Amino acid sequence: MLNPKLDTLDEYTFFRLNDLLGDIKPKTNREPILLSIGEPQNQPPALLAETIAANADSWNRYPPPNGDEPFRLAVTDWLTRRYRLPDELVDSDKNVIPVPGTREPLFMLGVLAVGEEKSGQTPAVLIPNPHYHVYRGAAMVGRTEPVYLPARAETNFLPDLDAITPEILARAAILYICSPSNPQGTVAPLDYLKRAITLAREHDFLLAIDECYAEIYRGAEPPGALQACAELGGGLDNVVVLHSLSKRSSAAGMRSGFIAGDERLIARYTQLVTFGGSPQPLPILRAATALWRDEDHVVANRAHYARNFTAAQEILGPVMNYHNPEAGFFLWLDVGDGVAVAERLWREAAIKTLPGAFMAKEEADGTNPGARYLRVALVYEETRTREGLTRMVELL
Ligand SMILES: Cc1ncc(COP(=O)(O)O)c(C=O)c1O
Repeated sequence: MLNPKLDTLDEYTFFRLNDLLGDIKPKTNREPILLSIGEPQNQPPALLAETIAANADSWNRYPPPNGDEPFRLAVTDWLTRRYRLPDELVDSDKNVIPVPGTREPLFMLGVLAVGEEKSGQTPAVLIPNPHYHVYRGAAMVGRTEPVYLPARAETNFLPDLDAITPEILARAAILYICSPSNPQGTVAPLDYLKRAITLAREHDFLLAIDECYAEIYRGAEPPGALQACAELGGGLDNVVVLHSLSKRSSAAGMRSGFIAGDERLIARYTQLVTFGGSPQPLPILRAATALWRDEDHVVANRAHYARNFTAAQEILGPVMNYHNPEAGFFLWLDVGDGVAVAERLWREAAIKTLPGAFMAKEEADGTNPGARYLRVALVYEETRTREGLTRMVELL
């Protein structure tokens, strides 16, 4: 009765974490601190609830599948400003659609962009390793095969694009890149993005750039794939970027984001929502419009995370080979054996972290590129973050 391909859903990262730690009772009475999940712990700005309340008279209406013009214009203005794009690059009617967070569209791209065959062979979905688990979802649709691209320290935690074989490129249907990346916080440079776009166009696959951490950074603004499109020419062909209010505005529960890119894909996505997706309710769309037009709360949010990373530098810097990631809100710590250390941290210090191995697949040589690492989410306010990191250091 069930699709056997979906048996791989059992490999979900947090099921594995629960298998590892679920039966262990911490030895300490200290309050548990959960640094395992990447969920913002601060509140979104009041603007969100106020705008939803002010638009309560539209809950009775079916929302349009592609949102409405004020939303699409707010997003287009934001993209154009944030990435210094030429005015005409993003057409708000053709290149933008709201989505209920980015998880759903990341999966749905598998429905839209993967056919039964590519170059007469099984289509491949190319996924950085380690990765956010949802990219694997696209490879569960139809006759597809996930291909894991090593993203290790030697290549600045980005897949080496020039190491992808011609055979894989010929049957590539989608290439996912996360920048800034979860888990490592690496920012893909503009030249890297341009190379990825060029490959996508040469081999006619979809390049899906997950930019949902784009606004959580410490130094310079991370560049984006649309900026790379602007520099390359050729419009937005073969490219889609995914953005979310979950991290930018700490509004993960709102389920609101957008995708922007190739108009063929956006048109088809609109049809897909009409047949089987969730359009954004109008009061939520109004609030999203207000949030994309407001930068003050984003600046404050960035400062909140920056305080945590300053704390991490102070606390971890003296005891381990530590450097702050460029962006995102995770630490990706080389601890030698992530599973063993996560278990010890929970048992001895009531600190929950995520072993890097649970975010990665074993590669052909039998090694898991996440095995040495621990992912630590710095999502609480500074005092609690300091407490968590200090307890970690006592044990490490
Ligand atoms: C890399 C990455 N992409 C996408 C998402 C999905 O976020 P949302 O669906 O809330 O936009 C997450 C959430 O943790 C993530 O870490």
